[in-house]
Amino acid sequence: MTVARTPVRPVESIDWQSIPSPAFVLDEGRLRRNLELIKRVSEESGASVIVAFKGFATWSSFDLVRQYVPGATASSLNEALLASREMRGEVHVYAPAYSDEDFPRLLELAHHITFNSFSQWERFRPQVQAARAAGREVGVAIRVNPEYAEVGTALYNPSMPFSRLGVTRAEFREDLLDGVDGLHFHTLCENDSDTLERVLEVFEEKFGEFLPRMRWVNFGGGHLMTREGYDIDRLVRIVRNFREKWDVDVILEPGSAFGWQTGWLVSSVLDVIRNEKDIAILDVSVSAHMPDVLEMPYRPNILGAGEAGERARTYLLGGTTCLSGDVVGEYSFDAPLRPGDRVVFDDMIHYTMVKTTFFNGVKHPDIGILGEDGRYRVVREFGYEDFRNKLS
Ligand SMILES: Cc1ncc(COP(=O)(O)O)c(C=O)c1O
Repeated sequence: MTVARTPVRPVESIDWQSIPSPAFVLDEGRLRRNLELIKRVSEESGASVIVAFKGFATWSSFDLVRQYVPGATASSLNEALLASREMRGEVHVYAPAYSDEDFPRLLELAHHITFNSFSQWERFRPQVQAARAAGREVGVAIRVNPEYAEVGTALYNPSMPFSRLGVTRAEFREDLLDGVDGLHFHTLCENDSDTLERVLEVFEEKFGEFLPRMRWVNFGGGHLMTREGYDIDRLVRIVRNFREKWDVDVILEPGSAFGWQTGWLVSSVLDVIRNEKDIAILDVSVSAHMPDVLEMPYRPNILGAGEAGERARTYLLGGTTCLSGDVVGEYSFDAPLRPGDRVVFDDMIHYTMVKTTFFNGVKHPDIGILGEDGRYRVVREFGYEDFRNKLS
């Protein structure tokens, strides 16, 4: 499948100084380009591709997203409500465990529910059966753990030793499959489709015997199909073959692939100080606004900046909280940094936006959308009330 990707606005043409700082800026054109590709994959492969809210939940963009995908997968009651009220499509739910309090409400909202264990399935089965008897069509899946993944970082590896995510083959309960019509696995993380191929081999070897009883299989997320160089043809082939071989529907639920390279975190310099090195303090926080930089950890790209020493002036960039480690790293720039200058972090939409906190009460970045008409609009500002409402 050749995917000619729609051209997008070059970053050089964006007037960053005109964007109030700090702000997460979602570029509608870049999002649409991802959505177009995702829809093509769905059409060519026959898979249903839904968006995982844990990775992308910018609901101001859902009018656009809804044109390309049929629904969302939620990992909590709050996300399920967002899926139902804002996306208004299919609602799929999976969480490592459901509480007695949340489950009845989840059941009302969900079209598909995946259980992480047979004990949870047994606990909530009577409610599912009652809903079905009353005419609700609700799909039920068990998440399995194939115990095979190609994920370097343990923090993001669902198949790491002693993982709590999914039922291993040794714990699988064939005797409890009545009423279960799907299997779910999620062991990819920003992987290409060759990894999926290898994961599927293991999955089929371990759980293939149960597939004739299933109507659908959810291949989870981690399919970074919108990354340049991702082998889309192979993904399409894998899904098609699997659907034909087992006569099941296939669901893919990526998160990152939706928000991948769709926007930025715009920050500005507040002060420049010196402690043996030049240090610039920004109006954002790594800890509060880019937590994955510290958790993963990884070095984010900054537009127009290079490695230390590569360009004329090198700075250690840090954030506004009192955390000593609220530091991004060393970057070099062509010109000296001055208060008010914009420092723009690239690719800060997927996961980053949903994981922010109000640590230290620091100003939370606005959420803004750069429209396809070239206009920038702030869709959300955060103030004292937001900070206060999170506490008590
Ligand atoms: C069960 C499940 N589905 C989907 C996803 C989305 O994965 P990604 O954003 O890497 O595509 C995740 C991510 O953690 C997940 O745990």
